[in-house]
Amino acid sequence: MKDRETVLIIDFGSQYTQLITRRIREDNVYSEIYPHTISLEKVKEIDPVGIILSGGPMSVYDEGAPVIDERIIKLGIPVLGICYGLQFISRSLGGGVEPAKDREYGKAILRVTDSSDLFKGVTKSSIVWMSHGDYLTRAPENFTVTAESDHSPFCAISNVKEKIFGVQFHPEVAHTVEGKKIIHNFLFEICKCKGEWTPQNFIEESISKIKSVIGNSKAICALSGGVDSTVAAVLVKKAIGENLISIHIDTGLMRKDESQKIGKMFDEKLDLNHIHIDASERFLKKLKGVTDPEQKRKIIGNTFIEVFEEEAKKYTDAKYLVQGTLYPDVIESTAVKGASATIKTHHNVGGLPEKMDLKLIEPFRELFKDEVRSVGRELNIPEEFIERHPFPGPGLAVRVLGEVTKDKLDILREADDIFISEIKNAVLYNQIWQAFAVLLPVQSVGVMGDQRTYEYVLALRAVTSVDGMTADWFQFDHDFLANLSNKIINKVRGVNRVVYDVSSKPPSTIEWE
Ligand code: XMP
Repeated sequence: MKDRETVLIIDFGSQYTQLITRRIREDNVYSEIYPHTISLEKVKEIDPVGIILSGGPMSVYDEGAPVIDERIIKLGIPVLGICYGLQFISRSLGGGVEPAKDREYGKAILRVTDSSDLFKGVTKSSIVWMSHGDYLTRAPENFTVTAESDHSPFCAISNVKEKIFGVQFHPEVAHTVEGKKIIHNFLFEICKCKGEWTPQNFIEESISKIKSVIGNSKAICALSGGVDSTVAAVLVKKAIGENLISIHIDTGLMRKDESQKIGKMFDEKLDLNHIHIDASERFLKKLKGVTDPEQKRKIIGNTFIEVFEEEAKKYTDAKYLVQGTLYPDVIESTAVKGASATIKTHHNVGGLPEKMDLKLIEPFRELFKDEVRSVGRELNIPEEFIERHPFPGPGLAVRVLGEVTKDKLDILREADDIFISEIKNAVLYNQIWQAFAVLLPVQSVGVMGDQRTYEYVLALRAVTSVDGMTADWFQFDHDFLANLSNKIINKVRGVNRVVYDVSSKPPSTIEWE
């Protein structure tokens, strides 16, 4: 089966593997990551136009070092090995790999000695990013050295006839100044790609696929108001029209007026004609007296499923469930990853009932978040939806620390609304990954007028991040913070002290619970 030009990335465990995929897709070529255990048959089935072997943390000589079926390199499909990938190629084909005296980590100068193919149009001398312990001491037979660096005499090698290339440095990392050009050359000079991976083509392809799968049946989707589920619903709606049933559950844990506002947008701007379920009392009742963060998360997740199932059951002719699952979630579950501890139990609209007898439609299983945003823009979804900060499934319940009550939620909603409005007024919203207020279960003494007050402490949190995995606190101007604190304390009854959270992730997390 080959309906889409694909570059296959084989993962040896590098922290940069996803970046390789991103760089290729930015060049309008589709690429997919598979673990190094991929079989020769699977590679043949994918029938890629090119193969990239990623870097990895191990030495090719380590016990248990990852390997691939070597016949994959010899299929005649262009191959590019990066770092460990290069070392693996070299070792497999009879070259020399040895531990370097010093681990080379950071910037190095690349000197190109052969400007054809991979290095066509690349400056003779440029900065590259290195991260390796071993290095090549001899190229395999019939390979030419195409670049060198101070510590790596065989920094890049190639066998043009066999279409096998390798580089010691990481072209996918932004610090490698000519990295994009090098990847571009691999794609277009060597693999002869056409570059047809665009949001528009993706939309056309998906619509016809969704139509053929769903046919005349009905599909259901849960609309949270987040980017992924919204764009997924709009796309599926385009494919199957009125056969899509969109349900929005108001948990009562949303931000100020949010449920109403997004509901209006769904109907008026996105033509989704959604069903609105107000389940706020039910959620609050279940949360009564609960203070443990994990317990809160579990209750909310389960209640959401209950409510959704009850509603979905009414549509007996629905056979499909639309979810906005993204590619990073898919990779996490298939790539070779060590077991990691549960830090927080995530509740996502994307984690809906396996036991529900509905087949899944996940149009974004192969997309990154920014690609979903591009698809959303192509579908003319308003920018205010596309650029929204992420919002956790359990909503404000994890931002009212301790027991959640309607009163506390209302205080938080008012304060949060002021915070976000001020950020938008200062045109900072798009520079920030996420900003929100947190109501602490602590009261402190203050004075307002001549009166002693004893009210809640409110924490403000704003972070920058690329993917939510790590984050830095956002450095607001001090006048901005002073002004904001005044506004909140003056306007929000129940708060007499505002603090700003200056912790990064790690060691903290973005949400407080
Ligand atoms: P933490 O707090 O773990 O959050 O640093 C990382 C990112 O994930 C969001 N988050 C969630 N998103 N369901 C979600 O869909 C959840 O249960 C959930 N918990 C946290 C958080 O807002 C941040 O963007």
